[in-house]
Order: sequence, then structure tokens, then C-alpha cells
Amino acid sequence: MSSEDQAPLNTNSALKHIAIIMDGNGRWAKAKHLPRAHGHQKGVQTVREIVKHCAKIGVGNLTLFAFSSENMKRSSEEVGVLFKLFLTVLKQETKKLNDNNIRLKIIGDMSVFSAEIQALASDAEKLLSHNTGLTLVIAANYGGQWDIAQAAKKIATLASEGQIQVDDIDIDIFEKHTALAGLPKVDLLIRTSGEIRISNFLLWDIAYSELFFTNTLWPDFGPDELDEAILDFHSRDRRFGARKDEN
Ligand code: IPE
Ligand code: IPE
Ligand code: MG
Repeated sequence: MSSEDQAPLNTNSALKHIAIIMDGNGRWAKAKHLPRAHGHQKGVQTVREIVKHCAKIGVGNLTLFAFSSENMKRSSEEVGVLFKLFLTVLKQETKKLNDNNIRLKIIGDMSVFSAEIQALASDAEKLLSHNTGLTLVIAANYGGQWDIAQAAKKIATLASEGQIQVDDIDIDIFEKHTALAGLPKVDLLIRTSGEIRISNFLLWDIAYSELFFTNTLWPDFGPDELDEAILDFHSRDRRFGARKDEN
């Protein structure tokens, strides 16, 4: 993409990675006296719009919280709806993602999903791996605590096999084993629906993310509000613990 093609909104190259906690589907449906499943379906439409918009304005990486490890505690009916939606989206959207030069990465404990979903997910990741545009990360059955624990497990295995020394374990090695290894740090974390919490989404990765909370329910969120969040991000003074006048 040439610089003229890029929308002016994301001119600050410091914004490389946006993560979103897509919350409020249930309340959106409830307000309209519709079943929760309708809220989740409408939520998928918002995902389509936001992915398209991020690709258009040149955001390099977008990580979406689709399903938390704790969401397994919901009724089997709702979990079933969410799993089925995941399956349908994988079947229907992979080609479109490919047409738009989008890469896909799915993070989370995939073992709870059916063999069909696991196969579709890994086939989609493989098919899209050579694309060079937006990297879309979908967090499914993901938990920030799970991510830290699985990284620790991999590192402990390397140490027990003698491939690394315990003394070598540092932040860099740890980071290489987290689910988002290799991607730029999350610059901006957005949560919709008015809840001001992280709900076990990315923990390690948001150490210095800027946070943006909006009352808008996810099915009502759209490109305009994403642009607002990006503008707000560009007005932040990111110090990373240092003092500006000493930089
Ligand atoms: C977010 O919407 C989607 C998932 C958590 C899967 P919710 O289903 O949490 O919607 P609310 O919070 O009940 O409105
Ligand atoms: C967080 O939302 C998970 C996703 C958006 C996928 P929840 O609705 O599950 O979070 P809580 O229960 O309100 O903290
Ligand atoms: Mg919720």
C-alpha cells in the first residue's frame, strides 16, 4: 500500500496493534427483546466491518477476544451457539480474508473445540499465512492466565531438557513463548459495553497498552467509533515509565 492510499487517521506508525474485548452482544439482544444468539450474530457483522476498516486504514495487527475460557461457564445452549458461529465464520470468511490479503492467527486452548473446528482453524491459518496485509488474531477459549501458564510450561520443558539454563529465563524468552509471540506489542486495548475490566484477556501483553472504554454495545460499534478511539490514542502521552525531558 503506498502512503497516499493510507487513510490519514493512522499516520502515527506507533499504532501497530489494536486489541478489542468485544462485549455487549447479550445486552444488545435483550434490549431488542431478541434471543442472545441474535446479539452474537449481529456481533459477527461488526467484526466484519471492523476487520475491513482496520485493513483499509493500515492497522497492522488486530486481536479480537471472541470467546474467553470463562465463557465455557455459560449455558450449554449459549456455548453451542457460539461454537456453531465460530464454525460458520471459519467456513464462510476464510476466502474473503484471503481476497483481502489478511493473515489469521487463532490463540487459545483449542482442545475444547470439535475436530472439525480445529482442522478448519489450522487450514485457514496455513492458507492465509503468506498474506502480507493485516494480521487478524482471534482469541477463542483464551485466557490471559492460561497464556502465561502455557508459556511457563514450554520454558520449563526447555529447561528440563537442558536446552536453556534457568538463569537464562528472562522477559525476552518468556515473551517468545506467549500466544502473541512475534507480533508488535498491543498499543491500544478497547472494551465495549461499559464494563471497565480486563476479564482475563491479554495480561502479559497489555503492560503498557493505552486503554479505551466505551459504553457502546459491540453490535452497535463501528468504524467511526474505532476512528475516535484511534484519535484518542494519538492524543495520549506514552511515557513507558521514562521522563520525556530525559529521552
Ligand atoms: C460478548 O457479549 C460476547 C462473548 C462474551 C462471547 P456477551 O455475550 O458477553 O454480552 P453481554 O455482556 O451479556 O451483554
Ligand atoms: C469478556 O466478556 C469475553 C469476551 C468479550 C469474549 P464477558 O462478558 O465474558 O466478561 P465478564 O463476564 O463481563 O467479565
Ligand atoms: Mg459480556
